Amino acid sequence: MKSILKKFSFFLKKYFFVYSVYRFFSQDQILHSKILNNFFLQSFRFNLAREKISARQKRLIKNIDDKEILDHFNALKKDGILVINNFLDRESLDEIESFYHSSNLENKISLNKFRLRGADYLDGNLSENLPKTFSFILGNKIIKHLPKLYLGNTAENQHWRLKFIKDVPEMKDENCNNHSDTFHNTLKIWIYLEDIEKDEDTLKYWKKSHLPNDVLDKYRIKKLVEGVGSPRAENQLMESLRFNLFNEKIKKNTLVMADTSGFHYRNFARGKELWRGTIFTSIRINPFFN
Ligand SMILES: [Fe+2]
Repeated sequence: MKSILKKFSFFLKKYFFVYSVYRFFSQDQILHSKILNNFFLQSFRFNLAREKISARQKRLIKNIDDKEILDHFNALKKDGILVINNFLDRESLDEIESFYHSSNLENKISLNKFRLRGADYLDGNLSENLPKTFSFILGNKIIKHLPKLYLGNTAENQHWRLKFIKDVPEMKDENCNNHSDTFHNTLKIWIYLEDIEKDEDTLKYWKKSHLPNDVLDKYRIKKLVEGVGSPRAENQLMESLRFNLFNEKIKKNTLVMADTSGFHYRNFARGKELWRGTIFTSIRINPFFN
């Protein structure tokens, strides 16, 4: 009996090790293996992800000769955030707005109270759950090319949704704390459907914090070793490292694309029943294989 148990535990350990190695080369933020969760290996993983994505970008950029796309790509790569005003044409915006302002909209919203603490939103694939005409977003030149160029070809499969952030006073929304989403380059895209004041819940983004930085990199790797994949960092730390904060009023129909491996947060606006409607997608792909 003892030998059977011994064999079983040996098998479990082996299985767990193989599983952890598999997770090591994934986009997962946290590794559960203590052996793999050490400074040397996390540092290797962190830097390898950065190298892989950079090499992939260099390879993909060779096939692009559209100046507008190249300019946007360079801006995104440089600061980690790209802002384009008047993004959608009038006709497309009208279509979205007629849906967004329709009186029965609330009936179509299935609020997900658990996905983000303190934030509720409608989650649905635009092409299925929302008007078919919204598919023009996928046909947009910038949406079509930029994520692929920045992250890799599979970044094409985007899951768009209409997202509302709703005030739930008794809850603390963790997105209001300054943080990085993950240890490798990743993208989030918002098309704002309302004007949002600077001190309300617009995205605040520490420009260039997605780039190599000795102090910040050490901090991130230390957190990865501790099993924290989305590290928090005090604003004072960001200021002491001389990062500049993007913090501006955002007008309706503005596209904001951000590499959320850089540090960011948003304010907690209060007082409205439903506030900040955005068309939103989050694109996270494997940094090692793509
Ligand atoms: Fe985030």
